Amino acid sequence: MKRLTVLSVLTALVLTACNGGQDKAYLNKAVKAAGEQLKYQAELFDTLNCYPRSFNGETYHKTKHADWTCGFFPGSLWLEYQLTGDEAFKDAALKYTARIEDATTRTGTHDLGFMTFCSFGKQYEVLGDSASAAVIVESARTLAQRFDPQVGLIRSWDFGEWNYPVIIDNMMNLEMLFWASEYTGDESLRQIAITHADNTLKNHFREDCSSYHVVSYNNDGSIESKGTYQGYSDESAWSRGQAWGLYGYTVCYRYTKDEKYLDHAQKIADFIMCNPAMPEDLVPVWDYNAPGTGNELCEAAKVDSCGLVGEPLAPARDASAAAIVASALIELSGYVDGEDGCEYLDYARRSIKSLCSDSYLAEPGTNGGFVLRHSTGAASLNSEIDVPINYADYYFLEAIHRLK
Ligand code: GLY
Repeated sequence: MKRLTVLSVLTALVLTACNGGQDKAYLNKAVKAAGEQLKYQAELFDTLNCYPRSFNGETYHKTKHADWTCGFFPGSLWLEYQLTGDEAFKDAALKYTARIEDATTRTGTHDLGFMTFCSFGKQYEVLGDSASAAVIVESARTLAQRFDPQVGLIRSWDFGEWNYPVIIDNMMNLEMLFWASEYTGDESLRQIAITHADNTLKNHFREDCSSYHVVSYNNDGSIESKGTYQGYSDESAWSRGQAWGLYGYTVCYRYTKDEKYLDHAQKIADFIMCNPAMPEDLVPVWDYNAPGTGNELCEAAKVDSCGLVGEPLAPARDASAAAIVASALIELSGYVDGEDGCEYLDYARRSIKSLCSDSYLAEPGTNGGFVLRHSTGAASLNSEIDVPINYADYYFLEAIHRLK
């Protein structure tokens, strides 16, 4: 609670210090549209005991509470409640959040932070209740079981050929560990988060501060391999991965005040904000080096040598990456004085304004009830390309909440 209040105060201070942002009409329009969409989905899924994950124009990709995305729909309902005060969103959020409770005992996934902290974490933010806190703490302890002290990292996946895969996305699960450590006074959870963040910082990043998606380790903590799963090629910069890294290290700084995390978050921000492949509307293609970005690592004709088989993929956008970056930059702007802080905020505002335009914000009654259009889940796996996705909506609403 205290942390979140400090974050809100910092955001408010930086919002006042930097120029611009007086025009709130587009934000209000987006909140209203999101409300209509979320109400539609909440009714549609009421009796289905699952969640809307994405929509291909005809059918839903529905998800149960074992999926990494299950926390985002309840989380969006909590955010909409915070933005509007409309009790209907609180009622729906309570109902959908409660369905996730048994995810907290799942030892087979590193995604518990996404699942639990985006749902029960938001519930706690609103209610401050000990029941939500207990679920978060239990979840954090379950996640901690995936930390191997020998390797010094939390294991990500249990599938595939890798010995001990760790993906950049895993930085997003540390927030729950830091939070649970503060809540319980259990220092070991914080130490796990710090060790994971330090080893990721050491091994996941290239000289230009872009990151690999997957780094796999040998049992003694040495590197087995570096590469990608959801990106265009092993040496490319998968757009959402860069967003997870930015958000993750910003959160690490929030909890530790260790300058190396702040410095690292700023370097990732530079990589994203100055990237030659960033389109004018600030919504990146799914990989900063994918064919069609103008920043290809390999020519389209040589696409096979870049690790992909078959036809070059269309340069689909990933609105989710833009929303995650915007939300992270708003927080980061509160930690950096002067011009840099204002630049982060200005960039975030421009991204959100772009996502609020007709190109991305869906007309209520369309888009399967999702708020944003044009996200990409895993183009490299030919999955969820250029579709609405629930985590884009979640981070979009979080960014608006932080701005407002
Ligand atoms: N954590 C999986 C993804 O970002 O697609």
